[in-house]
Amino acid sequence: MAMEAACVLAVVVVVLAFLSSAARGGVTSTYRRSLQALPDMPIDADVFRPPPGFNAPEQVHITLGDQTGRAMTVSWVTPKLPDSNVVRYGLRADNLTHTANGTFRRYSFGRKYRSGFIHHATLTGLDYGTKYHYAVGSGDTASARSFSFTTPPKPGPDVPYKFGLIGDLGQTFHSNDTLSHYEACGGDAVLFIGDLSYADNHPGHDNNRWDTWARFVERSVAYQPWIWTTGNHELDFAPELGETTPFKPFTNRYPTPFGASGSTRPLWYSVRMASAHVIVLASYAAYGKYTPQWRWLEGELRRVDRAVTPWLIVCVHSPWYSSNGYHYMEGESMRVEFERWLVDAKADVVLAGHVHSYERTRRVSNVAYDIANGMATPVFNRSAPVYINIGDGGNIEGLADDFRWPQPDYSVFREASFGHATLQIVNRTHAFYEWHRNSDGVKVVADHAWFTNRYWFPTDTN
Ligand SMILES: [Fe+2]
Repeated sequence: MAMEAACVLAVVVVVLAFLSSAARGGVTSTYRRSLQALPDMPIDADVFRPPPGFNAPEQVHITLGDQTGRAMTVSWVTPKLPDSNVVRYGLRADNLTHTANGTFRRYSFGRKYRSGFIHHATLTGLDYGTKYHYAVGSGDTASARSFSFTTPPKPGPDVPYKFGLIGDLGQTFHSNDTLSHYEACGGDAVLFIGDLSYADNHPGHDNNRWDTWARFVERSVAYQPWIWTTGNHELDFAPELGETTPFKPFTNRYPTPFGASGSTRPLWYSVRMASAHVIVLASYAAYGKYTPQWRWLEGELRRVDRAVTPWLIVCVHSPWYSSNGYHYMEGESMRVEFERWLVDAKADVVLAGHVHSYERTRRVSNVAYDIANGMATPVFNRSAPVYINIGDGGNIEGLADDFRWPQPDYSVFREASFGHATLQIVNRTHAFYEWHRNSDGVKVVADHAWFTNRYWFPTDTN
């Protein structure tokens, strides 16, 4: 009897939740998938295999070396010896006419780990929208390795560009699916929204998992720039191991072009690619009033020129709007600090991760509130950005399926599945956004929207 009553109650709750959601127009997807967390791929998995040859360069990755892509920073690791710091590059694979000299470094973590030789070299004076071939490692040995990339087009108001959007990737079989799906969907560059390797989920923050992760993603990031946002899994703050410098593995391994945008730390900066001005913020560095990040962002928003880069995109790890119970309201203090600025600046999109699920909002703001007036309800705002939570890369911690009910007005679509998204900017007025869940074939689009630009064409819908 008690069982029947419980069943009836459960049905009533589900129906009420559905009616509530339906009345508000938001969708909570009922797509069925395994919610089971998977362990990281085994250390001997083929995607982690070092390249053949003694001391062969591995973990090759690139990111912008300046603000707009006329410079590219190439990073790689040689495991045994320092080897050469030189990147050879040119317009033809068989004629690498130029060289860029870099540096190397090593770091230790805890008592057990010492990194290989981590090299960084910045190629400068590149032309926009041009394919370059490059090679790392000693030139005449069998272990030298060659790759290529295409620089972003010159910033301009109607320059098309396609970003991949990936967050919280990790290195499970789900992570591998996410990367493969992104590769199949294709993009020109990735906006990575934080939480890379999840090495800190292993005993002693096993930094060998930073190495395996970098070998795993090389197949994409050696060929196109990934723009890095930091997440909590980059902190690696471990006083119990004697490690008290936050972001030590990340900053040794992943340079960012922060100086080019006037930033004083690698964790917050901006790039301007094609028709987009991308601002990267750091959820885990101080952002209160008068702090370096606060002062930088205040100035940076004044430097955005929508006549040249119409699309203003902000990347931040901890979401400001998420209706998932996991990490609930962790981004609230930063929202209070900065949301007004982004609404005033008419930002187009805010990308976040951290919550291992997918969610897209309407254009919403909650900027009327002050400590005395009691107005604390998020409302539609034509000048506000769309918030996208893309923390669904597929890491070791599994999915976050604890949605809160009723689904808030502002939540258009939410689903606990792993996946990735792309943002294809068409011109100054329109950009096409789509989200792919890994459980489907790559041609299936599970959520999509046309975004209209907040500066040039601010419609009341998307
Ligand atoms: Fe996170």
